[in-house]
Amino acid sequence: MSDILFEPLVFRNLTIKNRILRSNISGRFDNYDGSGNQARINWEVRFAQGGVGAILSSFVPVLIRGRILPNYATIDRDDRIPFWRELGKRVHDHDCKFIMQLSHGGRQRDIGGIEFEKGLSSTAKPDPLHGFECEAMTAAQIKETVNAFAEAARRAREAGLDGVELHASNGYLFTQFLSSAINDRTDEYGGPLENRARFLLEVVAAIRAKVGSDFHLQVKISTTEMNNAMVPGEKRGNTIQDSVPICKWLEEAGVDAIHVSSGSFFPHPRNPVGDLPIDDFVRVYDSMLSSGTKTLRNFLFFKGKLTSNLFQSRWRKEAGKVFEGVNLADAHAVKRAVGIPVLCTGGFQTASFIRQAIDDGKCDAVTIARSLVANPDLVKHFKAGLDQAPKPCTYCNKCLVNVVENPLGCYDVTRFDGDRDRMVKEILSVFDPPPFGVKTTHA
Ligand SMILES: Cc1cc2nc3c(=O)[nH]c(=O)nc-3n(C[C@H](O)[C@H](O)[C@H](O)COP(=O)(O)O)c2cc1C
Ligand code: SF4
Repeated sequence: MSDILFEPLVFRNLTIKNRILRSNISGRFDNYDGSGNQARINWEVRFAQGGVGAILSSFVPVLIRGRILPNYATIDRDDRIPFWRELGKRVHDHDCKFIMQLSHGGRQRDIGGIEFEKGLSSTAKPDPLHGFECEAMTAAQIKETVNAFAEAARRAREAGLDGVELHASNGYLFTQFLSSAINDRTDEYGGPLENRARFLLEVVAAIRAKVGSDFHLQVKISTTEMNNAMVPGEKRGNTIQDSVPICKWLEEAGVDAIHVSSGSFFPHPRNPVGDLPIDDFVRVYDSMLSSGTKTLRNFLFFKGKLTSNLFQSRWRKEAGKVFEGVNLADAHAVKRAVGIPVLCTGGFQTASFIRQAIDDGKCDAVTIARSLVANPDLVKHFKAGLDQAPKPCTYCNKCLVNVVENPLGCYDVTRFDGDRDRMVKEILSVFDPPPFGVKTTHA
């Protein structure tokens, strides 16, 4: 009997071999200036080898002022194209597609770096949690940014990649426009939903004008924002009722798929859903101290035993108890409203659960980040008949908090039977093979 997990997924302009995509997952692997690195290629190839149908790239800034951390490869200039072409080829060698996530952080970032002081946003209000300062975009800056997204899509196409995804989720620039809690503009980009969606729809139109209608274009969107999850007194932000019309407008504008996520900031208790490993968090939060006006206050708060316990319990309460398929109800609501495929992210790692979600018509495919970091061969395990990998992801979120300072990888030592050396070796394996002319010592 055929298994829906291994049936091809047909988009308007693209077909992928199965229903499991690697979700976007960043990591500071590249060079400071935004040029790509061999480690990024090694990282992506590992998932292509593991059998996913497509890889959704890391956060790829379309402008330097849109970056959230140094050492993420960018797509802001034509001379970036050869690196992405090479990466795409290496992924294609394993019958896997590669979709680039076109991104702009707006006011939300982790470590500012030296190139610009303040982010651009829909608002001039700093983010309420870390206090990242920003300037409200002028009409000219909006136009420039729309054009930057279109140019980035052209570069992705010239690099031979299989499509692009607009990162309109997780609190970054597009969310800052879409959100009823964040966007406080009084011009045609603020106020009612149609106005708040204008910037995103202008970008879709500009991309279609630049690359034509036959290049895959999808949008990742936080359909429920829960903007008040961590900072008391904040507004709730968009709900699924606000997001469904936006998804319909995106479909009408020529978008080929919707990727459902959640949260008006990142990280958020519901994204990536799971625990907050407070000790690891405090150990790396110092690297963000100079980035926001509230980071020192937060650091002291997180360092205190009582206050950190308080923060952790609030996080756990907001995260809830069921992690797998945390966004499925929203995906289902979007699926009922649009005719294009709907992808869903959030906690997936059990074959029978994913199969049921697709069979029930809640989504067309799932995207997986952490469970693939823990088990890059997860799809092969599913194919061999296992319902889960032998050592599943524990949703501890240690990979998440470490990523600001340390290489991306699985940091749950319990998954390595308590053997820290084995864990570190595994994390550092992303640097093999090393760039040309460099020798590694950890292999
Ligand atoms: C370390 C880390 C980095 C991430 N980077 C990105 C990113 O660059 N872009 C994005 O859209 N989502 C990013 N995400 C979110 C994931 O793509 C995914 O939607 C989320 O983790 C939920 O899926 P999961 O439960 O399978 O991990 C990241 C998640 C983690 C843990
Ligand atoms: S550190 Fe490992 S086990 Fe923990 S959430 Fe990340 S991938 Fe999963």
